[in-house]
Amino acid sequence: MMDKGAYVRDMFATIAPRYDAANRVLTAGMDERWRKRAIAILAPPPGGRILDVCCGTGDLIFHLLRTDPTLEVTGLDFCVPMLEAARARAPREARGRAAFVEGDAMALPFPDATFDGATMGFSLRNVVDIDATLREVRRVLRPGARFVNLDVSKAPNKIWKACFDLYFYRAVPLVGGIVGKSKQAYAYLPQSLTHHPTADRLRDCFADAGFAEAGYARLMGGAIAVHYGTAPR
Ligand SMILES: C[S@@+](CC[C@H](N)C(=O)[O-])C[C@H]1O[C@@H](n2cnc3c(N)ncnc32)[C@H](O)[C@@H]1O
Repeated sequence: MMDKGAYVRDMFATIAPRYDAANRVLTAGMDERWRKRAIAILAPPPGGRILDVCCGTGDLIFHLLRTDPTLEVTGLDFCVPMLEAARARAPREARGRAAFVEGDAMALPFPDATFDGATMGFSLRNVVDIDATLREVRRVLRPGARFVNLDVSKAPNKIWKACFDLYFYRAVPLVGGIVGKSKQAYAYLPQSLTHHPTADRLRDCFADAGFAEAGYARLMGGAIAVHYGTAPR
């Protein structure tokens, strides 16, 4: 049996060429708005060094640089084809101000207190060990720097959750399978939410990992959440 990390890496390698198109179709372009909200919550300091953990094809990186071109953004991912897709976008969308590093979110290849902020988008569900990842992100942040995590979550209203589940567990595999051209990958992605902590529990994981001021903002009635925390001063 392949371990979860290797499975996830291979799966994203398969869908990398069509990942962006599938995302836009599956969220009807709304992910752009959610990403802007996450960056507003991050409030990156001008000229700051920002780490985008599990950067994939670089969507959050390019949003960060559009928001503030003075930022210096590093994207990290363990899937080479996803990183290659991000690198291919960089000359047009980042004008060279982004760096890309192959690495594992659970063992970040950076010294302590390197970054002035960190982001993560739609990825925490995919890592093998959420607590280890959160501890690593906190370690590489300077005191007072913020981390924001944008991801799918579990809506508190049962009726809305049932509607969203119908979309996420039924429509995503179907539409993702067609646009993303991998039935298997888009059948896995919804399952990754099943065992993911609730929004409250994930906030507690942030606090347990040593983040101060841990909290979250609900988007789309809580079907999407932005969790945040600050590295202690
Ligand atoms: C759903 S994509 C999200 C990409 C991007 N952050 C976005 O917002 O579109 C998940 C990404 O997490 C990466 N990933 C999953 N586990 C990882 C790990 N342990 N270390 C580094 N990257 C990881 C995958 O390779 C993939 O590119």
